[in-house]
Amino acid sequence: MKSFYITTAIDYVNGSPHLGHAYEKVLTDVIARFRRQMGDQVHFLTGADEHGQKVQASARKQGIEPQAYVDATAAEFRALYDRLNISYDDFIRTTEPRHKKVVCDVLQKLFDQGEIYQAEYRGFYSTRQEQFLQEKDRLPDGTWPEIFGEVTAIVEQNYFFRLKKYQDWLIDYLKTHEDFIFPKYRQKQVIEFLKEPLNDLCISRPRERLEWGIALPFDSNYVTYVWFDALLNYYSGVVDKGFWPADFNVIGKDILVPPHAVYWPIMLHAFGLPPPKALLVHGFWMQSGAKMSKSTGAAVNPLDLIDQFGVDAFRYFLIREMNVGQDSEFTVEQFMVRYNSELANNLGNLVNRALNMTTKFAGGVLPAAEVIEELELELLAVWTKTRDELVPLGETFQFHTALERTMTFLTATNSYIDKRAPWKLGKSTEPKDQALLRTTLATIAEASRLAVTAMLHVTPASTQKIYEAFGYTPGTEWQAELEWGTKLNGAKVSPALVLFPRPEKPAAPAKA
Ligand code: MSP
Repeated sequence: MKSFYITTAIDYVNGSPHLGHAYEKVLTDVIARFRRQMGDQVHFLTGADEHGQKVQASARKQGIEPQAYVDATAAEFRALYDRLNISYDDFIRTTEPRHKKVVCDVLQKLFDQGEIYQAEYRGFYSTRQEQFLQEKDRLPDGTWPEIFGEVTAIVEQNYFFRLKKYQDWLIDYLKTHEDFIFPKYRQKQVIEFLKEPLNDLCISRPRERLEWGIALPFDSNYVTYVWFDALLNYYSGVVDKGFWPADFNVIGKDILVPPHAVYWPIMLHAFGLPPPKALLVHGFWMQSGAKMSKSTGAAVNPLDLIDQFGVDAFRYFLIREMNVGQDSEFTVEQFMVRYNSELANNLGNLVNRALNMTTKFAGGVLPAAEVIEELELELLAVWTKTRDELVPLGETFQFHTALERTMTFLTATNSYIDKRAPWKLGKSTEPKDQALLRTTLATIAEASRLAVTAMLHVTPASTQKIYEAFGYTPGTEWQAELEWGTKLNGAKVSPALVLFPRPEKPAAPAKA
């Protein structure tokens, strides 16, 4: 069995989770579920980034200890991910002893190897980004870009990691590992970034300025820079499980350069470990062109839509709408369009037509198909094409296209019903019409089964509910489940299923 180790970014738990956090976990979950369906032994790690200035400041604001603060907020993130049916195998928190130990071991080894040295730092610091800045980061008018928030000038003794020394190694690595970053054009951006000389990375913060972090094992007057600490979660989470290197670190585009594309592979290389096999970089959900984030205060609360429309509708929308790697505009209107036309009308209606008519015309027991005419052959051809595309699309993260193709198949199935008009066939006593009726019932039930199987990794709970309504227990081999066949013959179906109900009142715009 091929092993497949995938991670998400670990979220800063200094506020409540928002749509961006939820999307990344849903996307990674869809990939993890897809790989499991393909037969891989998957290890899926997610977690919480709990140290650093931001957390310390948020805890102080509430007048509580940072640990008590992160215990509460990390639980809130985790509860959301459980609610979203995220099938993670492990949830790592950077305040856990297992993580701290690995961070200390890595730091000590790098220090012993001479990869870390002490020097004076003179420069500027952005608390919002937890990042040191240089003159070149200023805007032409001398001010700092807004993303950095308040910027302060500092002079202090610190510890530095020899990043510069590995610049040529990294450039060479990127040139010889063309598939290191998905989408590919981002790899070119990193190579472009590396045309400028790198500075060594300051990996310490004096305790008097920041207490909330992992103490440096070789100098307890300092704590570890939060990025150096956080990146190591991908390794500390599996250190004794034999999963390294990761197949994919899934991250948003804002944390590619420099943390994941520069610091991370160099840290690992200096330590003597191979980098992850690839970084999967997704785009941003935007709202009216603005980034939705805690710091700009324009966050959408994903729970609002989940409460109103259900987990699978929410998961479906995120995956259907966003082309992995690109940005997407989030609007409640667009959510409603997809909910109504694709989930309620196309899928929900088909399933209910199949269940109702089987109940009405066949006593609730699915008959076998008896005739194959042009209409059946046409529908089968649409399915065969759809099925052939599913695996290659999934393997290249084009889940949005796979869902689009599945919707096309559902539309074709609904129009097959209209053409066959089983309600008319049901009124006829002609044996030929009765045979056609049985064929129609079998065909639309089988088409429903296949469509929801195609969506299994996106809408796992709804797919399961639909299987149950068709009295069906799927086999363990997903690809075998995608074969058009006779699996439902003789199954006892439920008369109806409430799947994607119409909202009682129009959706309120998500909280701004
Ligand atoms: N703690 C760091 C990551 C450390 S990983 C070793 C961090 N946390 S974060 O909470 O700010 O972001 C977590 C993830 O959510 C990142 O991958 C980020 O790109 C993603 N998103 C945050 N806002 C987003 C959107 N509006 N849209 C999509 N994803 C976004 O960075």
